[in-house]
Amino acid sequence: MTDTAGDARRAAPDRAPATWLPPPEPGRAALVTGASSGLGAELARALAGRGYDVVLVARRRARLQHLAQELSASGATVCAVPCDLTAPDQRASLAAELGDRGLEVSILCNAAGAGAAGEFLGVERERQVADVRLVLLLLTVLGRWSPFPAGASSAAPS
Ligand SMILES: NC(=O)c1ccc[n+]([C@@H]2O[C@H](COP(=O)([O-])OP(=O)(O)OC[C@H]3O[C@@H](n4cnc5c(N)ncnc54)[C@H](OP(=O)(O)O)[C@@H]3O)[C@@H](O)[C@H]2O)c1
Repeated sequence: MTDTAGDARRAAPDRAPATWLPPPEPGRAALVTGASSGLGAELARALAGRGYDVVLVARRRARLQHLAQELSASGATVCAVPCDLTAPDQRASLAAELGDRGLEVSILCNAAGAGAAGEFLGVERERQVADVRLVLLLLTVLGRWSPFPAGASSAAPS
């Protein structure tokens, strides 16, 4: 089977980068989970570099603040919100904080995760369960979260 449209898109030499993203707009932000390290931190850098306001979310406050300083220094508008995404009260606080700041999430970039390396049977079962639970939360609860109107606390995941 041929994928003519896909081939044409891939071959287009002047393809604009990430045209499928909504454009940056005042009051609308890209929320990146797992922004304290790895893929999330890099995605946050890339989005800030493209002019998006960025909300950095993960548990480690110091690392978020460090990245927020780095991105702010290069002209981006960034806010760091420490949050354990597995905790419903902390997710509610995150939603409230975005509402207080008048920010609407136009891009949700879920990079939080905790993949354990090694042989499957060698990884502690509770850790595997926690990893799967976090990924399910990101795909289901948080996946319904974007976009939501600023201040709409009823749209907060629970
Ligand atoms: N790197 C790769 O090549 C690759 C390839 C395929 C898939 N993946 C998957 O992509 C995900 C990210 O990979 P990575 O390499 O970027 O991993 P990483 O550097 O360990 O980053 C994981 C991020 O998730 C955050 N996080 C974990 N639990 C959280 C929670 N309960 N609440 C909020 N944030 C939480 C961590 O921050 P805090 O600890 O500060 O909360 C950290 O920022 C993982 O699920 C991984 O399995 C990675």
